[in-house]
Amino acid sequence: MSCTVIIGAQWGDEGKGKVTDFLAERADVVARYQGGNNAGHTVIVGEQGFKLHLVPSGILYPDKLCVLGNGMVIDPEALVNEIEGLEEKGVSTAGLRISDRAHLILPYHKRLDELQEASRGAGKIGTTGRGIGPAYNDKSARMGMRMADLLDPSEFHEKLTANVKAKNAYLKQTFGAEGFDAAAMEEIILALAERFRDRITDTGVLLSETIAAGKKVLFEGAQGTLLDIDHGTYPFVTSSNTTAGGACTGTGVGPTAIDRVIGVVKAYTTRVGAGPFPTELNDAVGERLRQRGAEFGTTTGRPRRCGWLDTVVLRYAARVNGLTGIAITKLDVLDGLDTIKICTGYRINGKVTTDFPASRKAVETAEPVYEELPGWNESTGQATTWEELPAATRRYLDRIADLTGVPIVIVSVGPCRSQTIVMDRLF
Ligand code: GDP
Ligand code: IMO
Ligand code: MG
Repeated sequence: MSCTVIIGAQWGDEGKGKVTDFLAERADVVARYQGGNNAGHTVIVGEQGFKLHLVPSGILYPDKLCVLGNGMVIDPEALVNEIEGLEEKGVSTAGLRISDRAHLILPYHKRLDELQEASRGAGKIGTTGRGIGPAYNDKSARMGMRMADLLDPSEFHEKLTANVKAKNAYLKQTFGAEGFDAAAMEEIILALAERFRDRITDTGVLLSETIAAGKKVLFEGAQGTLLDIDHGTYPFVTSSNTTAGGACTGTGVGPTAIDRVIGVVKAYTTRVGAGPFPTELNDAVGERLRQRGAEFGTTTGRPRRCGWLDTVVLRYAARVNGLTGIAITKLDVLDGLDTIKICTGYRINGKVTTDFPASRKAVETAEPVYEELPGWNESTGQATTWEELPAATRRYLDRIADLTGVPIVIVSVGPCRSQTIVMDRLF
């Protein structure tokens, strides 16, 4: 393993943090490449739980370098809080490096996120309110502020003054909202930057040297394939490329360096926020999954919508990410069900398709076509090998591999590091 990309194959919260932490033991560098603190990655180490939003899940090993890539949008206040929270828990963040090309989330982005959401009314996306969309909007509009600007106070002053002026006019005209004081903001952001400015560097060079030296890099995706700005359930998506291609554009590492792409797949499906979700269960089974799986958002605490596994989604994820392996998580949550359903196709206007449609209306009206498999009564949480899993569990996993055409390389049966079954084919 030299370069491995880890992505979410569904709508986020698949357990990317757990899988990244598990694989990080064998890596030298762990890099995030898109998104910001909209992500919430929970990692359990022994008795301690860590909720990571910006910092890669490799930080819990003292000897790893952890990179915040150029494709990310970073809120300086959230970054300082996270670094301090980790240090308070005894985790060293000395290995953290921040791309000089990463964009900044500033207070006006958060205000705009709130106001834009409120103005969408019934069509709201259900964003995390962290300013993600407005920050990526500024990036595409070529008016964003970057980490490199923090290293040059006069450049920072000039750009921030112009940006605040433009944003204040927009806030007033569009929302009748109050603006911001540019000088006060400048002082606050530059003071925050003092806490991390020595970590800002050209992380593209760092990664390229790491790879040239034959060391191992893990790329940790945030969100999931169906939240991708291009490939997701648009417009109910986030504002970045969450899919494997984002690992290249978001770090400055070329695609020929990537050896493997592991899709993290929850053994059922969840979604937070609005947007179509064909296999959603608004019944007792959905509630059971939510309670047993503790499906409440890491970032916002919102209850996650729950449903059966959807292999139309997974086949799509396998294709757009070029998956080489699947890491199945939260299998233990399915223990004790009499039968388990897998969605194998969508019936849309009387026709069955196995390709994920672009049209929002098509996904909204899609009727899932299910296959029913026997469940298992045994508890899977103690299994440490494939053979120790109940026969019906193995059958369920084999069927997922069949339907997606991607081998299963990791099976997670609980949140702890020890509750992880690794298949020989992984290495
Ligand atoms: P991420 O955003 O993809 O990293 O996922 P989250 O951390 O938001 O949500 C996954 C949740 O499931 C976390 O609370 C994990 O501790 C937990 N988790 C991960 N793998 C397993 C597993 O195999 N079984 C159970 N029961 N919980 C798991
Ligand atoms: P991790 O990395 C699940 C969802 C939000 C909303 C949409 C847009 O923990 O899997 P945004 O704030 O990004 O503009 O919101 O995307 N969303 C997530 N859902 N897991 C996440 O991250 C998410 N990050 C954003 O709920 O529907
Ligand atoms: Mg999460």
